[in-house]
Amino acid sequence: MLSFEDTFSSPAPQAAMPGMKPLAAVAAATARVRAEDKRIINGTADVNQLVPFKYKWAWDKYLSGCANHWMPQEINMSRDIAQWKDPDALTEDERRIVKRNLGFFVTADSLAANNIVLGTYRHITAPECRQYLLRQAFEEAIHTHAYQYIVESLGLDEGEIFNAYHEVQSIRDKDEFLIPFIETLTNSEFKTGTPENDRNLLKSLIVFACIMEGLFFYVGFAQILALGRQNKMTGAAEQYQYILRDESMHCNFGIDVINTIKLENPHLWTPEFREEIRVLMQKGVELEYRYAEDTMPRGVLGLNASMFKEYLRFIANRRCQQIGLDELYPNSSNPFPWMSEMIDLKKEKNFFETRVTEYQTGGALSWD
Ligand SMILES: [Fe+2]
Ligand SMILES: [Fe+2]
Repeated sequence: MLSFEDTFSSPAPQAAMPGMKPLAAVAAATARVRAEDKRIINGTADVNQLVPFKYKWAWDKYLSGCANHWMPQEINMSRDIAQWKDPDALTEDERRIVKRNLGFFVTADSLAANNIVLGTYRHITAPECRQYLLRQAFEEAIHTHAYQYIVESLGLDEGEIFNAYHEVQSIRDKDEFLIPFIETLTNSEFKTGTPENDRNLLKSLIVFACIMEGLFFYVGFAQILALGRQNKMTGAAEQYQYILRDESMHCNFGIDVINTIKLENPHLWTPEFREEIRVLMQKGVELEYRYAEDTMPRGVLGLNASMFKEYLRFIANRRCQQIGLDELYPNSSNPFPWMSEMIDLKKEKNFFETRVTEYQTGGALSWD
């Protein structure tokens, strides 16, 4: 039978301290928590005691996430519905973008939620990070809800959109790249505590934050926001803008987790490992570029696939820099400065603060 300690404390402190007498082990597990004893992975401090805080940045992000709360049905979709029904309001290429876009996102956020709930959460031993992950998991549910709400509002073929990750090669390729990294974390046999497994965990966290949330979402976001800027599908674009704000925070949280794990476990960050990550980032850029080509066989909305090649290189450089890797594509620049107004770099924080104010006062987003 499981004892209270087995059920409710962080992963097996007794096992982590070989040779310790059972009584002493129980004493260690029941002693008051000290912030300095907390660790992001392989920690032995009680995971149920949120305070004393050690990772204040995680708690602050949790509070910010809550302050940003929104629900999809608060956004009026009537103009989008009228435009979708009007044969002259949108071109075939614009309709393709909307459908391909939803085809990726309707299942992507479900994969993201699975990754958090069934994987990442178990391996993170800092309760303030777990608290953020719980908030993030709910936000992923809201995102899936938002995409479903758009599909339903427009009267799209549910089967076609929701099964796109099996039927559309460019979407399937992105997901097939991600799935092995999700499976590492969700495999019930997987446990951290060896350099090899800790590196596998770190690799999965980097793929998830920097490549999935930090790169694979950006062609889609830019496309729908470009539609919104031209007064098309403004309800969908407003939903995407709220989602983008959330995802920007998820990506930044993931990067903080990654960098803190590196600080606490410097032996994991070897030259070979760094090279492995750079190769994965390059692969991510290639896959997202192929998705851009597939969704935009011709130029549309002032955008074309080759502009996205430059944009993805620019973002990949930024992700590398954020986790302490050399840039992959020297001299890349941002071809979509209007996107940077909303999401990029130092302006991320300003964007986020602006939206908080607007959302909390119920103001609509404007498109210019
Ligand atoms: Fe999401
Ligand atoms: Fe996310």
